[in-house]
Amino acid sequence: MIQNNALTLHVEEITKDFVGLRALEDVTLSLHRGEILGLIGPNGSGKTTLINVITGFLKPTRGRVRVGDTDITGWPPHRIAHVGLARTFQTIKLFRGLTVLENVEVAAVSAGLSRPQARERALWALERVGATHLATIPAGALPYGEERRIEVARALASRPIFLFLDEPAAGLNEQESDTLLEMLTPLPRETGCGMLIVDHDMRLIMRLCHRLHVLNYGRTICEGTPNEVRHDKEVIAAYLGSGRRMLPC
Ligand SMILES: Nc1ncnc2c1ncn2[C@@H]1O[C@H](COP(=O)(O)OP(=O)(O)OP(=O)(O)O)[C@@H](O)[C@H]1O
Ligand SMILES: [Mg+2]
Repeated sequence: MIQNNALTLHVEEITKDFVGLRALEDVTLSLHRGEILGLIGPNGSGKTTLINVITGFLKPTRGRVRVGDTDITGWPPHRIAHVGLARTFQTIKLFRGLTVLENVEVAAVSAGLSRPQARERALWALERVGATHLATIPAGALPYGEERRIEVARALASRPIFLFLDEPAAGLNEQESDTLLEMLTPLPRETGCGMLIVDHDMRLIMRLCHRLHVLNYGRTICEGTPNEVRHDKEVIAAYLGSGRRMLPC
């Protein structure tokens, strides 16, 4: 794992074509350690595709992904995980027959930790997301809001240097989203990781993120602080067209 605290993740001019569709076009962004970057945009604007490209689940058609000086473009997911990038999935992927603790341990082992290290990290990650009391419960018995929390613990268990969260607030009510906000806010400061979060919960995004990057039809339309983005005409138009509300009520 790369340990330099000054490292930045660079996404450089990423284009991704699927058959008959350009999902991303020339997307460039950087993610610094200790910061929380929100990646937002209407449905189908390319947010999950970009996380898939960064974490190795998809190869880009063009462009590069670098961690500091290390070019990780096209590396397989397990190799990228070993460099210190971790992610959650928009669709929850817990092993329902395993306990919560085992689920988190498996994630740590897959990221290259030994079994004893994985147990220690899994306990730390569960404590970090406030789920220690759920450790021995089978994942299949968890209520929905708690499953999302365990997904975050799984990603945290490898002590990532860059963390990618794909819609961690999906399906959560306002109170659960507030709990998520409290849990995520101190993480980059306390662990030194850089966090990129995708979500449609604008109340959460506007309060959590230091910076926002906005995609529409696979292209960057705006980058700035939540306040700058909130007032950007192109962003407002994109969200109006999508039927979703940009401004939190
Ligand atoms: N494997 C694939 N093959 C073909 N097209 C795909 C594939 N994955 C995504 N797409 C298309 O690429 C575009 C971007 O999809 P993506 O899932 O990245 O959007 P998103 O911004 O994450 O949307 P949402 O907010 O609904 O999750 C969409 O038009 C989608 O249908
Ligand atoms: Mg998505």
